[in-house]
Amino acid sequence: MLDAKLPAPPQAAVDLFGPALPVVQRYGELLAGPGVERGLIGPREVDRLWERHLMNCAAVAELVPQDAHVVDVGSGAGLPGLVLAAIRSDLRVTLLEPLLRRTVFLEECLDALELDNAEVLRGRAEDWARRMGADVVTARAVAPMERLVGWCLPLLRPHGRMLALKGEAAAEELAAVAPTLSGLGARAWGVVEVGSVLGDAATRVIRIDLGPSGFRSPVQRSRRGTRG
Ligand SMILES: C[S@@+](CC[C@H](N)C(=O)[O-])C[C@H]1O[C@@H](n2cnc3c(N)ncnc32)[C@H](O)[C@@H]1O
Repeated sequence: MLDAKLPAPPQAAVDLFGPALPVVQRYGELLAGPGVERGLIGPREVDRLWERHLMNCAAVAELVPQDAHVVDVGSGAGLPGLVLAAIRSDLRVTLLEPLLRRTVFLEECLDALELDNAEVLRGRAEDWARRMGADVVTARAVAPMERLVGWCLPLLRPHGRMLALKGEAAAEELAAVAPTLSGLGARAWGVVEVGSVLGDAATRVIRIDLGPSGFRSPVQRSRRGTRG
């Protein structure tokens, strides 16, 4: 049995989470305990759970509009989707994850934390293309952007927003896909720094906003091209 224990929250976490601190702390304990025991999170992550994981994910909340339906693609052990649900009761969060032992852990977390604004959906993002109509899709540490845009943009409604938590590599990763984005229906994109007052928890997020027609697939584009 691994004896990992969540460190006490730093003052920055107390300030950031406010009244949501107890529920986030309980979630951190589940990550540090069963999450580590079941191999969902590395034991060396426990000492930095607050800054690198819980606060880092919470920092993204500033880019999520009020009352949004958020789909967290490749949620894993719940990052960032479960943190967003814990700190924003206005959101409805779908934790989309294909692996059974991860979805079991996510269900257990939702029960233990009594979070009724989040749900677990077992599946792959590509299987839900055009069937989700989400306001916001988040993804952290899931895949390179070339693959991620193909998985995430089709889950969004017109004017929806994709948020990819990418840290240091954000500008480079965005540059790799930028030439394709307007063809896929995006109208604006960029790298946004979030959580700048949070020290180690600050991160860079790639934000892609769809236009009024929503996602356009490469197939649709080539058909239009042949009509010509
Ligand atoms: C490295 S983990 C990251 C988990 C979590 N987002 C985090 O930041 O800790 C990547 C996750 O993406 C999931 N995943 C892989 N391919 C996927 C797909 N096609 N659709 C949805 N999730 C996928 C994996 O099962 C895994 O849980």
